[in-house]
Amino acid sequence: MTVGIIGSGTMGSGIAQVAATAGCSVKVYDTSQEALTTSEDKLNEVLLRLIEKERIDDAEKNRIQGNISYVASIQDLADADLTIEAIIENLEVKQKVFRELEACQTKDAIIASNTSSLSIASIASALENPERVIGIHFFNPAPLMPLVEIIPAVQTSTTVKEKVVKIISDWKKVGVLAKDTPGFIVNRVARPFYGEALRIYEEGKADIPTIDNALKELGGFRMGPFELMDFIGHDVNYTVTETVFKEFYYDPRYKPSFTQKRLKEAGYLGRKTGNGFYDYKDGKIDKSR
Ligand code: NAI
Repeated sequence: MTVGIIGSGTMGSGIAQVAATAGCSVKVYDTSQEALTTSEDKLNEVLLRLIEKERIDDAEKNRIQGNISYVASIQDLADADLTIEAIIENLEVKQKVFRELEACQTKDAIIASNTSSLSIASIASALENPERVIGIHFFNPAPLMPLVEIIPAVQTSTTVKEKVVKIISDWKKVGVLAKDTPGFIVNRVARPFYGEALRIYEEGKADIPTIDNALKELGGFRMGPFELMDFIGHDVNYTVTETVFKEFYYDPRYKPSFTQKRLKEAGYLGRKTGNGFYDYKDGKIDKSR
């Protein structure tokens, strides 16, 4: 099976690794050549680390690398049986890319979005054949996180849904079917985890490391809410909260935080830029502002 990936950032790169490991021929496309080069470099680093840990051998590394190619034009995805889009979380931009893709593919090719919060029905509505569109929502880091939400839209055909359920299982992931509602399952449940932590901090009730440690020590979470927001990236995490808030008709339970908005505006996006709630340049330092 040939799989197209649009967007070679955090998620696209991880999904490409998952599909290539499962034996698919994967083509990764991005508008940024730099992003494609970084994606390839990171994959090579990850595979070398897996060899060091004796999880894979040289032959497996070569097999996975051989299954992935990096392409500079969306037309190069014309023969993909399944394309998964993982670009910026913006409806208009996603719709435009989906239209470009549909124009160069056959009618039975499946087109999926990895969106965290946008409506799959509205993404699909941009296409002439919306029944081919579905949400396939991986979690970060995609190669390590077993869960994948599968989100059929109102328009999605049963055949497409069934094919995707099988593909995700073949890729050794745990697929769950979710309704096309804002944040689906996990991102909706997770909103108050971030939102209440931010409110506790903004009200001056506790500082960031205290809240993170409390959740890790007592709640058994692997990362505290601030560590997790820094890990996901404030551009992505804030935008998801904003979308869920708007889509739920401004329900105050999902109200976004000014503290996080300012980080996003400043370009302090978390681990990927080396600063966020913590500073990561010289080890991890609390930067409660
Ligand atoms: P990212 O910022 O790491 O990567 C996005 C990539 O898309 C960049 O390389 C950019 O050059 C490329 N791009 C932007 N516009 C493009 C276009 N028109 N055509 C082709 N490439 C384009 O973003 P990330 O974090 O990988 O997120 C991607 C999607 O996945 C978003 O919809 C996000 O909501 C979703 N998501 C993100 C998760 C996360 O933890 N970061 C988790 C699950 C879903």
